[in-house]
Amino acid sequence: MRLENKVAIVTGAGQGIGEAYAQRFAREGAKVVVADVNVEKGTAVAAAIGGDAVFERVDVASEDDTRRLARAVADRFGRIDVLLNNAAIFYGIENQNFSYAYLRKIFDVNYFGAWLMCRAVFPVMKQQGSGSVINQSSAAAWMHPDIPFEGDQLPSFHYSVTKAALNAMTHYMAGCVGKFGVRVNAIAPGPTMTEATKQIVPEGVMDLIVNMMMAIHRPLEPDDLTGTAVWLASDDAKMVTGQCILVDGGMIMLG
Ligand SMILES: NC(=O)c1ccc[n+]([C@@H]2O[C@H](COP(=O)([O-])OP(=O)(O)OC[C@H]3O[C@@H](n4cnc5c(N)ncnc54)[C@H](O)[C@@H]3O)[C@@H](O)[C@H]2O)c1
Repeated sequence: MRLENKVAIVTGAGQGIGEAYAQRFAREGAKVVVADVNVEKGTAVAAAIGGDAVFERVDVASEDDTRRLARAVADRFGRIDVLLNNAAIFYGIENQNFSYAYLRKIFDVNYFGAWLMCRAVFPVMKQQGSGSVINQSSAAAWMHPDIPFEGDQLPSFHYSVTKAALNAMTHYMAGCVGKFGVRVNAIAPGPTMTEATKQIVPEGVMDLIVNMMMAIHRPLEPDDLTGTAVWLASDDAKMVTGQCILVDGGMIMLG
């Protein structure tokens, strides 16, 4: 077991990729905090994992929630070794909503949520002299931004831009906190078969993406991502920081 006795917070672990991260971390021996805004789903995931796993409700876009979560985890387990910033608005995302208000809403969760969570756990990680932050980016951060739009309304590129911003945050934060033993990395998945993806990407479009854009001709399953997260969370990666690792079946590599 590669994460024995580590305490790991996984945000957005109520379903999809976050749930797979939480389950795998627990199998690797971590004490997992399933953190999600969805109480019903988060509670069910923590119960299914069992053992030391607990559910904590958090809206990552709320300063109060993020601070309360970090305090609760530190009080309960005495430390925080891993923060996996996976929560994002993805399921049900309004791809054609280019309003300023919606752009800010997506930023509040997908980008500021990750920053708020980092800010909340940092004092604990700094005090213990170690910690691994993993930001969930996306291959979308690199993709061609030719979004279809009508009339003269400029697209906001909301989802891709929040993921590109997360990559930048990963870089800058890693440079600042390394001296305290804290590492910051990112995982950028390609298309992964969660309920959200099935809802957003029509089947025919997925076939095109897989066959025309990816070196490995199949979409990812959530479990395909968990090994990279375990490695980044583990001591095997103790000199790895500031990296954004594409786990995308060779999609961005092909350009
Ligand atoms: N599925 C893909 O193809 C894919 C590809 C690249 C990157 N990603 C990223 O991976 C992550 C998970 O993707 P998914 O497909 O499992 O998405 P999903 O929409 O199925 O799951 C997101 C989870 O985050 C939670 N969440 C949403 N807003 C929250 C908030 N304000 N506070 C706390 N929790 C909140 C949701 O309740 C849900 O449990 C996201 O960051 C997504 O951007 C997904």
